[in-house]
Amino acid sequence: MNQSISPTTRLFGSLVLPPDKSISHRSVILNSLAKGSAVIKNYSTAADCQATIGCIRELGVDITSTESTNDSSVSVNLQITSPGQSNLSEPMTTLDAQNSGTTMRLLMGLLASAPIFSVITGDNSLRSRPMSRISTPLSLMGANIIGRKNNSLAPLAIKGGELSGIEYDMPVASAQVKSSLIIAAMFAKGETILQQPSLSRDHTERMLKAMGADISEDDLSIFVKPVSNLKPVDMSIPGDISAGAFWMVAAAAHPNAKIKLENVVMNPGRTGIMDVLRMMGAKISVENDRIDGGEPICDVTVESSEMTGIDIAGEMIPRTIDEIPIIALAACFAKGKTTIRDASELRVKESDRITTTVNELSKLGANIQELPDGLLIEGTGYLSGGNCSSNGDHRLAMTLAIAGTLANETVNISESEAVSVSYPNFWNDLSMIMNS
Ligand code: S3P
Repeated sequence: MNQSISPTTRLFGSLVLPPDKSISHRSVILNSLAKGSAVIKNYSTAADCQATIGCIRELGVDITSTESTNDSSVSVNLQITSPGQSNLSEPMTTLDAQNSGTTMRLLMGLLASAPIFSVITGDNSLRSRPMSRISTPLSLMGANIIGRKNNSLAPLAIKGGELSGIEYDMPVASAQVKSSLIIAAMFAKGETILQQPSLSRDHTERMLKAMGADISEDDLSIFVKPVSNLKPVDMSIPGDISAGAFWMVAAAAHPNAKIKLENVVMNPGRTGIMDVLRMMGAKISVENDRIDGGEPICDVTVESSEMTGIDIAGEMIPRTIDEIPIIALAACFAKGKTTIRDASELRVKESDRITTTVNELSKLGANIQELPDGLLIEGTGYLSGGNCSSNGDHRLAMTLAIAGTLANETVNISESEAVSVSYPNFWNDLSMIMNS
Protein backbone atom coordinates (compact mmCIF):
# COMPACT_ATOMS: atom_id res chain seq x y z
CA MET A 1 0.00 0.00 0.00
CA ASN A 2 1.15 3.56 -0.75
CA GLN A 3 0.51 6.64 1.37
CA SER A 4 1.25 10.20 0.31
CA ILE A 5 1.77 12.84 2.99
CA SER A 6 1.92 16.48 1.99
CA PRO A 7 3.43 19.34 3.97
CA THR A 8 1.05 21.03 6.39
CA THR A 9 0.93 24.55 7.80
CA ARG A 10 -0.03 23.41 11.30
CA LEU A 11 0.10 20.38 13.61
CA PHE A 12 -2.21 20.72 16.61
CA GLY A 13 -4.27 18.52 18.90
CA SER A 14 -4.43 16.09 21.74
CA LEU A 15 -3.96 12.34 21.31
CA VAL A 16 -4.62 9.27 23.38
CA LEU A 17 -1.67 7.08 22.37
CA PRO A 18 -2.09 3.41 21.46
CA PRO A 19 -1.62 0.99 24.39
CA ASP A 20 2.03 0.27 25.12
CA LYS A 21 3.29 -2.65 23.04
CA SER A 22 5.98 -3.88 25.46
CA ILE A 23 3.60 -3.90 28.45
CA SER A 24 0.79 -5.50 26.40
CA HIS A 25 3.01 -8.45 25.40
CA ARG A 26 4.10 -8.96 28.99
CA SER A 27 0.57 -8.73 30.40
CA VAL A 28 -0.40 -11.82 28.38
CA ILE A 29 2.86 -13.79 28.58
CA LEU A 30 3.42 -13.29 32.31
CA ASN A 31 -0.24 -13.91 33.27
CA SER A 32 -0.13 -17.15 31.26
CA LEU A 33 2.41 -18.40 33.84
CA ALA A 34 0.06 -17.89 36.81
CA LYS A 35 -2.81 -20.23 37.62
CA GLY A 36 -6.11 -18.31 37.60
CA SER A 37 -7.67 -15.33 35.81
CA ALA A 38 -6.57 -11.77 35.08
CA VAL A 39 -8.33 -8.86 33.39
CA ILE A 40 -6.27 -6.60 31.12
CA LYS A 41 -7.85 -3.28 30.17
CA ASN A 42 -6.80 -1.38 27.05
CA TYR A 43 -4.76 -4.18 25.40
CA SER A 44 -2.91 -3.29 22.20
CA THR A 45 -4.54 -4.02 18.82
CA ALA A 46 -1.09 -3.92 17.15
CA ALA A 47 -0.33 -6.97 14.98
CA ASP A 48 2.69 -7.81 17.19
CA CYS A 49 0.54 -8.06 20.32
CA GLN A 50 -2.13 -10.08 18.50
CA ALA A 51 0.65 -12.53 17.53
CA THR A 52 1.41 -12.98 21.24
CA ILE A 53 -2.26 -13.78 21.96
CA GLY A 54 -2.27 -16.33 19.11
CA CYS A 55 0.82 -18.14 20.47
CA ILE A 56 -0.34 -18.16 24.10
CA ARG A 57 -3.75 -19.58 23.13
CA GLU A 58 -1.93 -22.53 21.49
CA LEU A 59 -0.55 -23.35 24.96
CA GLY A 60 -4.05 -23.95 26.34
CA VAL A 61 -4.56 -20.53 27.91
CA ASP A 62 -8.07 -19.15 27.47
CA ILE A 63 -8.05 -15.53 26.26
CA THR A 64 -11.31 -13.73 25.52
CA SER A 65 -11.27 -10.28 24.01
CA THR A 66 -14.08 -7.70 24.29
CA GLU A 67 -14.31 -4.15 22.98
CA SER A 68 -15.49 -1.22 25.08
CA THR A 69 -16.27 2.27 23.79
CA ASN A 70 -15.55 5.44 25.82
CA ASP A 71 -16.38 8.73 24.08
CA SER A 72 -15.18 8.14 20.53
CA SER A 73 -12.40 5.65 21.22
CA VAL A 74 -12.66 1.88 21.29
CA SER A 75 -10.47 -0.13 23.63
CA VAL A 76 -9.91 -3.84 23.91
CA ASN A 77 -10.11 -5.71 27.21
CA LEU A 78 -8.84 -9.25 27.74
CA GLN A 79 -9.73 -11.94 30.22
CA ILE A 80 -6.85 -14.42 30.54
CA THR A 81 -7.42 -17.74 32.31
CA SER A 82 -4.40 -20.02 32.64
CA PRO A 83 -3.89 -23.48 34.14
CA GLY A 84 -0.44 -22.22 35.29
CA GLN A 85 3.08 -22.73 33.92
CA SER A 86 3.35 -26.42 34.89
CA ASN A 87 0.04 -27.29 33.19
CA LEU A 88 0.46 -25.51 29.85
CA SER A 89 -0.48 -27.70 26.87
CA GLU A 90 1.97 -28.84 24.23
CA PRO A 91 1.06 -26.81 21.12
CA MET A 92 -0.37 -28.97 18.28
CA THR A 93 0.99 -26.60 15.66
CA THR A 94 3.94 -24.27 15.00
CA LEU A 95 3.79 -21.04 17.02
CA ASP A 96 3.88 -17.99 14.74
CA ALA A 97 5.40 -14.84 16.26
CA GLN A 98 4.92 -13.05 12.88
CA ASN A 99 7.05 -9.83 12.91
CA SER A 100 7.42 -9.69 16.69
CA GLY A 101 10.87 -10.13 18.26
CA THR A 102 9.42 -9.61 21.74
CA THR A 103 6.93 -12.46 21.24
CA MET A 104 9.58 -14.90 20.02
CA ARG A 105 12.27 -14.01 22.54
CA LEU A 106 10.09 -13.87 25.67
CA LEU A 107 8.30 -17.07 24.64
CA MET A 108 11.62 -18.89 24.21
CA GLY A 109 12.22 -18.46 27.97
CA LEU A 110 8.71 -19.68 28.74
CA LEU A 111 8.85 -22.66 26.34
CA ALA A 112 12.28 -23.77 27.61
CA SER A 113 10.99 -23.94 31.18
CA ALA A 114 7.70 -25.80 30.56
CA PRO A 115 7.50 -29.61 30.18
CA ILE A 116 6.45 -29.43 26.51
CA PHE A 117 7.87 -29.60 22.96
CA SER A 118 7.26 -26.65 20.63
CA VAL A 119 8.40 -25.06 17.39
CA ILE A 120 8.35 -21.27 17.02
CA THR A 121 8.82 -19.26 13.83
CA GLY A 122 8.03 -15.85 12.35
CA ASP A 123 7.95 -13.84 9.13
CA ASN A 124 10.94 -13.31 6.79
CA SER A 125 12.25 -10.42 8.88
CA LEU A 126 12.01 -12.28 12.22
CA ARG A 127 13.52 -15.46 10.75
CA SER A 128 16.67 -13.49 9.96
CA ARG A 129 17.03 -11.85 13.40
CA PRO A 130 19.57 -13.25 15.91
CA MET A 131 18.18 -15.68 18.48
CA SER A 132 21.48 -17.10 19.80
CA ARG A 133 21.48 -14.25 22.34
CA ILE A 134 18.60 -16.22 23.93
CA SER A 135 19.32 -19.83 22.90
CA THR A 136 22.93 -19.68 24.20
CA PRO A 137 22.15 -18.65 27.81
CA LEU A 138 19.02 -20.84 27.90
CA SER A 139 21.17 -23.80 26.78
CA LEU A 140 23.61 -22.98 29.61
CA MET A 141 20.60 -23.36 31.93
CA GLY A 142 19.99 -26.83 30.45
CA ALA A 143 17.43 -26.09 27.72
CA ASN A 144 17.28 -28.08 24.48
CA ILE A 145 16.95 -25.63 21.58
CA ILE A 146 17.64 -26.47 17.95
CA GLY A 147 17.43 -24.00 15.09
CA ARG A 148 18.88 -22.93 11.77
CA LYS A 149 22.49 -21.62 11.57
CA ASN A 150 23.77 -23.37 14.66
CA ASN A 151 20.62 -22.71 16.71
CA SER A 152 20.72 -18.98 16.11
CA LEU A 153 17.82 -18.50 13.67
CA ALA A 154 14.12 -19.45 13.69
CA PRO A 155 12.35 -21.75 13.16
CA LEU A 156 13.46 -23.00 16.56
CA ALA A 157 12.46 -26.31 18.14
CA ILE A 158 12.42 -26.26 21.94
CA LYS A 159 12.12 -29.24 24.27
CA GLY A 160 11.38 -27.66 27.63
CA GLY A 161 12.15 -29.20 30.98
CA GLU A 162 14.27 -28.93 34.09
CA LEU A 163 16.56 -25.89 34.10
CA SER A 164 19.23 -24.73 36.54
CA GLY A 165 19.99 -21.16 37.57
CA ILE A 166 23.12 -19.51 36.12
CA GLU A 167 25.27 -16.42 36.60
CA TYR A 168 25.33 -14.68 33.26
CA ASP A 169 26.98 -11.50 31.94
CA MET A 170 24.66 -10.28 29.21
CA PRO A 171 26.69 -9.17 26.16
CA VAL A 172 23.87 -6.86 24.93
CA ALA A 173 21.71 -4.44 26.91
CA SER A 174 18.46 -6.02 25.78
CA ALA A 175 15.15 -6.05 27.66
CA GLN A 176 14.04 -8.95 25.49
CA VAL A 177 17.02 -11.13 26.48
CA LYS A 178 16.76 -10.12 30.14
CA SER A 179 13.00 -10.86 30.21
CA SER A 180 13.37 -14.24 28.54
CA LEU A 181 16.04 -15.30 31.05
CA ILE A 182 14.05 -13.99 34.03
CA ILE A 183 11.03 -16.05 32.93
CA ALA A 184 13.15 -19.21 32.61
CA ALA A 185 14.97 -18.47 35.88
CA MET A 186 11.74 -18.35 37.91
CA PHE A 187 11.16 -22.04 37.09
CA ALA A 188 14.81 -23.19 37.35
CA LYS A 189 16.57 -24.88 40.29
CA GLY A 190 18.63 -22.36 42.31
CA GLU A 191 19.21 -18.65 41.90
CA THR A 192 20.01 -16.85 38.62
CA ILE A 193 22.12 -13.69 38.56
CA LEU A 194 22.10 -11.52 35.42
CA GLN A 195 24.58 -8.70 34.86
CA GLN A 196 23.30 -6.06 32.44
CA PRO A 197 25.76 -3.86 30.51
CA SER A 198 23.37 -0.91 30.99
CA LEU A 199 19.79 -0.14 31.95
CA SER A 200 16.96 -1.18 29.64
CA ARG A 201 13.17 -1.14 30.14
CA ASP A 202 12.18 -3.05 33.30
CA HIS A 203 8.48 -3.75 32.66
CA THR A 204 9.03 -7.50 33.23
CA GLU A 205 10.63 -6.98 36.64
CA ARG A 206 7.87 -4.57 37.75
CA MET A 207 5.03 -6.83 36.62
CA LEU A 208 6.53 -10.03 38.04
CA LYS A 209 7.14 -8.40 41.42
CA ALA A 210 3.45 -7.43 41.49
CA MET A 211 2.66 -11.10 40.76
CA GLY A 212 4.71 -12.30 43.76
CA ALA A 213 8.01 -13.28 42.07
CA ASP A 214 11.26 -13.07 44.04
CA ILE A 215 13.27 -10.63 41.88
CA SER A 216 15.66 -8.01 43.23
CA GLU A 217 18.14 -5.60 41.70
CA ASP A 218 21.43 -4.07 42.77
CA ASP A 219 22.54 -1.43 40.27
CA LEU A 220 22.85 -3.42 37.00
CA SER A 221 22.62 -6.90 38.61
CA ILE A 222 19.33 -8.79 38.71
CA PHE A 223 18.74 -11.69 41.14
CA VAL A 224 15.95 -14.16 40.39
CA LYS A 225 14.95 -16.92 42.83
CA PRO A 226 12.61 -19.79 41.94
CA VAL A 227 8.94 -18.85 42.33
CA SER A 228 6.47 -21.02 44.20
CA ASN A 229 3.16 -19.28 43.72
CA LEU A 230 2.76 -16.69 40.97
CA LYS A 231 -0.51 -14.75 41.21
CA PRO A 232 -2.37 -13.34 38.18
CA VAL A 233 -2.40 -9.53 38.03
CA ASP A 234 -5.11 -7.23 36.61
CA MET A 235 -3.88 -4.10 34.88
CA SER A 236 -4.69 -1.28 32.52
CA ILE A 237 -2.13 -0.69 29.75
CA PRO A 238 -0.80 2.91 29.50
CA GLY A 239 0.01 4.81 26.28
CA ASP A 240 3.09 3.84 24.27
CA ILE A 241 5.90 6.44 24.49
CA SER A 242 7.57 4.85 21.42
CA ALA A 243 4.41 5.71 19.43
CA GLY A 244 4.36 9.14 21.13
CA ALA A 245 7.93 9.79 19.91
CA PHE A 246 6.64 10.41 16.35
CA TRP A 247 4.33 13.20 17.59
CA MET A 248 7.00 14.64 19.90
CA VAL A 249 9.40 15.06 16.97
CA ALA A 250 6.65 16.31 14.64
CA ALA A 251 5.66 19.02 17.12
CA ALA A 252 9.23 20.04 18.01
CA ALA A 253 10.44 20.25 14.39
CA HIS A 254 7.36 21.94 12.84
CA PRO A 255 7.25 25.76 13.03
CA ASN A 256 3.54 25.93 13.94
CA ALA A 257 2.74 23.04 16.27
CA LYS A 258 1.60 21.99 19.71
CA ILE A 259 0.63 18.37 20.47
CA LYS A 260 -0.53 16.93 23.78
CA LEU A 261 -0.10 13.20 24.45
CA GLU A 262 -2.21 11.71 27.20
CA ASN A 263 -1.44 8.79 29.52
CA VAL A 264 2.18 8.20 28.43
CA VAL A 265 4.26 5.53 30.16
CA MET A 266 7.36 7.11 31.83
CA ASN A 267 9.35 3.95 32.61
CA PRO A 268 12.99 5.20 32.94
CA GLY A 269 14.08 2.61 30.36
CA ARG A 270 11.77 4.28 27.83
CA THR A 271 12.08 8.05 28.40
CA GLY A 272 15.38 8.50 26.52
CA ILE A 273 13.48 10.15 23.66
CA MET A 274 12.37 12.97 25.97
CA ASP A 275 15.91 13.38 27.37
CA VAL A 276 17.34 13.53 23.83
CA LEU A 277 14.76 16.03 22.57
CA ARG A 278 15.23 18.22 25.67
CA MET A 279 19.03 18.16 25.13
CA MET A 280 18.37 19.27 21.54
CA GLY A 281 16.34 22.21 22.91
CA ALA A 282 12.77 20.92 22.46
CA LYS A 283 10.03 22.54 24.54
CA ILE A 284 8.45 19.66 26.44
CA SER A 285 6.16 19.97 29.44
CA VAL A 286 4.87 17.22 31.65
CA GLU A 287 1.80 17.22 33.89
CA ASN A 288 -0.50 14.95 35.81
CA ASP A 289 2.24 12.52 36.97
CA ARG A 290 0.86 9.41 38.59
CA ILE A 291 1.64 5.72 39.17
CA ASP A 292 -0.67 3.12 37.62
CA GLY A 293 -0.10 -0.64 37.56
CA GLY A 294 3.43 -0.17 38.95
CA GLU A 295 4.46 2.14 36.06
CA PRO A 296 4.91 5.94 36.18
CA ILE A 297 2.50 7.73 33.77
CA CYS A 298 1.94 11.38 32.77
CA ASP A 299 0.65 13.69 30.04
CA VAL A 300 3.28 15.27 27.76
CA THR A 301 2.98 18.40 25.60
CA VAL A 302 5.52 19.32 22.92
CA GLU A 303 5.54 22.49 20.84
CA SER A 304 7.52 24.12 18.01
CA SER A 305 11.15 24.49 19.09
CA GLU A 306 14.57 25.61 17.86
CA MET A 307 16.73 22.49 18.05
CA THR A 308 20.51 21.97 17.97
CA GLY A 309 22.39 18.79 17.06
CA ILE A 310 23.84 16.62 19.85
CA ASP A 311 25.92 13.44 20.38
CA ILE A 312 24.04 10.33 21.46
CA ALA A 313 25.96 7.21 22.58
CA GLY A 314 26.61 4.74 25.41
CA GLU A 315 23.91 4.10 27.97
CA MET A 316 21.51 6.45 26.17
CA ILE A 317 21.20 3.95 23.28
CA PRO A 318 19.17 1.16 24.99
CA ARG A 319 16.84 3.90 26.32
CA THR A 320 16.19 5.24 22.79
CA ILE A 321 16.67 2.07 20.75
CA ASP A 322 13.27 2.14 18.99
CA GLU A 323 13.34 5.92 18.53
CA ILE A 324 16.60 6.35 16.56
CA PRO A 325 14.94 6.67 13.11
CA ILE A 326 12.65 9.46 14.33
CA ILE A 327 15.56 11.09 16.23
CA ALA A 328 17.47 11.08 12.91
CA LEU A 329 14.55 12.99 11.38
CA ALA A 330 14.61 15.51 14.27
CA ALA A 331 18.35 15.96 13.59
CA CYS A 332 17.62 16.97 9.97
CA PHE A 333 15.70 19.95 11.42
CA ALA A 334 18.26 20.81 14.14
CA LYS A 335 21.14 23.27 13.70
CA GLY A 336 24.53 21.58 13.28
CA LYS A 337 25.68 18.01 13.56
CA THR A 338 24.09 15.05 15.38
CA THR A 339 26.07 11.85 15.89
CA ILE A 340 24.60 8.56 17.02
CA ARG A 341 27.17 5.89 18.06
CA ASP A 342 27.18 2.51 19.87
CA ALA A 343 23.93 1.64 18.11
CA SER A 344 24.90 -1.39 16.01
CA GLU A 345 21.85 -3.19 17.55
CA LEU A 346 19.85 -1.18 15.00
CA ARG A 347 21.24 -3.46 12.30
CA VAL A 348 19.24 -6.40 13.67
CA LYS A 349 15.85 -4.76 14.20
CA GLU A 350 12.81 -5.25 11.89
CA SER A 351 15.09 -3.87 9.15
CA ASP A 352 18.77 -2.81 9.30
CA ARG A 353 17.65 0.55 10.65
CA ILE A 354 21.05 2.22 10.11
CA THR A 355 20.98 1.47 6.38
CA THR A 356 17.23 1.93 5.85
CA THR A 357 17.13 5.26 7.74
CA VAL A 358 20.09 6.60 5.72
CA ASN A 359 18.74 5.33 2.37
CA GLU A 360 15.19 6.62 2.84
CA LEU A 361 15.99 10.03 4.38
CA SER A 362 18.67 10.54 1.67
CA LYS A 363 15.92 10.15 -0.95
CA LEU A 364 14.31 13.23 0.67
CA GLY A 365 17.55 15.23 0.45
CA ALA A 366 18.79 14.70 4.02
CA ASN A 367 22.50 15.16 4.72
CA ILE A 368 22.91 11.82 6.53
CA GLN A 369 25.71 9.26 6.56
CA GLU A 370 26.00 5.70 7.74
CA LEU A 371 28.57 4.84 10.46
CA PRO A 372 29.37 1.21 11.34
CA ASP A 373 27.51 1.63 14.64
CA GLY A 374 25.29 4.64 14.01
CA LEU A 375 24.52 7.77 12.03
CA LEU A 376 25.96 11.18 11.28
CA ILE A 377 23.43 13.87 10.38
CA GLU A 378 24.06 17.49 9.39
CA GLY A 379 20.87 19.47 10.01
CA THR A 380 19.81 21.52 7.00
CA GLY A 381 16.40 22.63 8.28
CA TYR A 382 14.52 21.23 5.32
CA LEU A 383 13.68 18.08 3.35
CA SER A 384 12.39 17.83 -0.20
CA GLY A 385 9.57 15.49 -1.14
CA GLY A 386 10.15 12.20 -2.92
CA ASN A 387 9.36 8.51 -3.20
CA CYS A 388 10.53 6.24 -0.44
CA SER A 389 9.74 2.91 1.21
CA SER A 390 9.19 1.65 4.75
CA ASN A 391 11.18 -1.46 3.77
CA GLY A 392 8.41 -3.29 5.64
CA ASP A 393 9.52 -1.64 8.91
CA HIS A 394 6.77 0.05 10.95
CA ARG A 395 9.05 2.60 12.59
CA LEU A 396 10.47 3.66 9.20
CA ALA A 397 6.94 4.05 7.78
CA MET A 398 5.96 6.43 10.60
CA THR A 399 9.26 8.35 10.46
CA LEU A 400 8.71 8.95 6.73
CA ALA A 401 5.11 10.04 7.31
CA ILE A 402 6.26 12.65 9.84
CA ALA A 403 8.94 13.68 7.30
CA GLY A 404 6.05 14.31 4.89
CA THR A 405 4.43 16.80 7.28
CA LEU A 406 7.74 18.69 7.64
CA ALA A 407 9.09 18.52 4.06
CA ASN A 408 8.70 21.10 1.28
CA GLU A 409 6.80 18.72 -1.02
CA THR A 410 4.82 15.48 -0.88
CA VAL A 411 6.47 12.31 0.46
CA ASN A 412 5.17 9.05 -1.06
CA ILE A 413 5.68 5.98 1.12
CA SER A 414 5.40 2.44 -0.24
CA GLU A 415 4.76 -0.58 2.05
CA SER A 416 3.04 1.89 4.38
CA GLU A 417 0.77 -0.84 5.81
CA ALA A 418 3.72 -1.80 8.07
CA VAL A 419 2.40 0.73 10.65
CA SER A 420 -0.17 -1.84 11.79
CA VAL A 421 2.64 -3.83 13.43
CA SER A 422 2.65 -1.30 16.30
CA TYR A 423 0.17 1.54 15.61
CA PRO A 424 -2.89 0.52 13.53
CA ASN A 425 -4.61 3.91 14.04
CA PHE A 426 -1.56 5.95 12.99
CA TRP A 427 -2.98 7.36 9.72
CA ASN A 428 -6.23 8.47 11.44
CA ASP A 429 -4.28 10.15 14.26
CA LEU A 430 -2.04 11.85 11.68
CA SER A 431 -5.00 13.20 9.77
CA MET A 432 -6.56 14.45 13.03
CA ILE A 433 -3.36 16.28 14.03
CA MET A 434 -3.00 17.78 10.53
CA ASN A 435 -6.62 18.97 10.41
CA SER A 436 -7.49 20.19 13.91
C1 S3P B 1 11.49 -4.54 23.57
C2 S3P B 1 12.84 -4.35 23.74
C3 S3P B 1 13.70 -3.74 22.72
C4 S3P B 1 12.90 -3.01 21.65
C5 S3P B 1 11.71 -3.78 21.21
C6 S3P B 1 10.79 -4.09 22.37
C7 S3P B 1 10.75 -5.19 24.67
O1 S3P B 1 14.45 -4.77 22.10
O2 S3P B 1 13.72 -2.69 20.57
O3 S3P B 1 10.98 -3.04 20.25
O4 S3P B 1 9.51 -5.09 24.69
O5 S3P B 1 11.39 -5.81 25.51
P1 S3P B 1 15.85 -5.22 22.73
O6 S3P B 1 15.57 -5.48 24.14
O7 S3P B 1 16.28 -6.48 22.06
O8 S3P B 1 16.78 -4.08 22.48
